[in-house]
Amino acid sequence: MIQDRSLIKDFVIIVKIDKQVQIRRAVEADLSKMHDIEVKSFSHPYGKDFFRYLWKQKTTRFFVAVSDGEVIGYIIGLRRDERVGHVVSIAVTPGQQGKGIGKSLLNRVVEDLGSEEIWLEVSTENEKARNFYETMGFRFKEHLPRYYQSGEDAIRMVLFIAK
Ligand SMILES: CC(C)(COP(=O)(O)OP(=O)(O)OC[C@H]1O[C@@H](n2cnc3c(N)ncnc32)[C@H](O)[C@@H]1OP(=O)(O)O)[C@@H](O)C(=O)NCCC(=O)NCCS
Repeated sequence: MIQDRSLIKDFVIIVKIDKQVQIRRAVEADLSKMHDIEVKSFSHPYGKDFFRYLWKQKTTRFFVAVSDGEVIGYIIGLRRDERVGHVVSIAVTPGQQGKGIGKSLLNRVVEDLGSEEIWLEVSTENEKARNFYETMGFRFKEHLPRYYQSGEDAIRMVLFIAK
């Protein structure tokens, strides 16, 4: 019999793939692999120091997707305040995308943050991610000109959580 209910909560079967993928809270040893995926996924990735800085903040939540003992995706969320949560970064290893892993990561962090609203920013150029967020229920909130250091614009999207 499983005694620890959190163990049940952190174990997710992804139906679109034949292997079991576990979504679990990250540990510090996962940071390096998470950052490797960040670097592979973005033309202007966050630095490793920024990941370490976020790791130390009490308001941040890190989750990873693990298959065969390997980290294949991650999400970083944070609580902006009592009401609003924020997705700082999410990425799934390129070969593993489109299998429901991003959806499981996002659902897990949204549940964990317990916020009334979740905000995120996405590049106007990143149509794939924008479509993904729209599928997940996020809607356009505002346009952010030259939001990124590269000069690219972003849009802020918001998800309202029904309580
Ligand atoms: C965006 C990202 C995290 C999505 O993760 P993923 O594992 O590929 O997405 P999922 O397979 O969980 O898809 C979840 C839902 O979104 C939909 N979706 C995913 N990509 C989509 C796309 N390009 N267009 C339309 N819908 C899409 C899926 O159809 C699925 O919907 P369903 O459950 O109704 O079938 C992933 O593609 C990624 O890592 N991209 C590179 C990094 C990045 O751009 N991150 C976001 C930065 S803001």
